[in-house]
Amino acid sequence: MQFEIFLVSASYVSKRKFEALEESLVAANSAPTRVVRLEHEGDSLFAVLNEALHAGAKSIVLRPLGLPFSQSLRNWVPNAAADWLARQPLGAVQLSIAEDLDEDAELINFIANRPIKSQAIEPKIDGLNGNGWDEPPQFEHHLLVCTGPRCHMRGSFGLLTPLKTAVAQAGLSAKTLIASTGCLYPCNSGPILIHYPKGDWYQLNSEHDVQTFVREVLIEGKASKLKLPFSPHKTSVPQKSPQPAH
Ligand code: FES
Repeated sequence: MQFEIFLVSASYVSKRKFEALEESLVAANSAPTRVVRLEHEGDSLFAVLNEALHAGAKSIVLRPLGLPFSQSLRNWVPNAAADWLARQPLGAVQLSIAEDLDEDAELINFIANRPIKSQAIEPKIDGLNGNGWDEPPQFEHHLLVCTGPRCHMRGSFGLLTPLKTAVAQAGLSAKTLIASTGCLYPCNSGPILIHYPKGDWYQLNSEHDVQTFVREVLIEGKASKLKLPFSPHKTSVPQKSPQPAH
């Protein structure tokens, strides 16, 4: 059985819109299908690959969905998927990745010539501004949780809710801003969390790590073994190696 996994790279798509897209793709595709977000939220690609294997897939096709799809993700995903494949029983499943949709001339022609339904936009003074977005927040702790592709693959999104819960249980919600971010660079040490204003970096691999971080760092103000041995004050953006995707 062939299982198909559409890959979406779009941080600012709402859950509702993403689920509607997923529903349409699953209904329209004759093969068993899942749609995976590579950043921000949702099941990780590894989790969905496992799901496909357990469903009895003998062939899994990864289908980048986007016009254009991120070039760096297109380069990275086969390697990440190969890492997953190397941990499966030999010959258990075939894995492949489809070509980019923007290389499909027929599809491009189809899109370019679709009838256009449009909505008029009228002039609006201050249309750029929203209500209540004027002042920086006065939080004691800023927690930046990376949900970029590599940390997402390592389960970072699944740690956000436990983190919010643990912070709330500690009575620190009013003092703590928790924000999910795109790639913060040290992907190989992910899932990454940065604690500001201290500027300390942490690797949180599990809900247990989240509990430990909140207790040791936020409540007790102690050093934690989860802290990574570098800080933003001692690092610089790599100049020679290619920047991570995203
Ligand atoms: S994806 Fe998290 S540090 Fe790069």
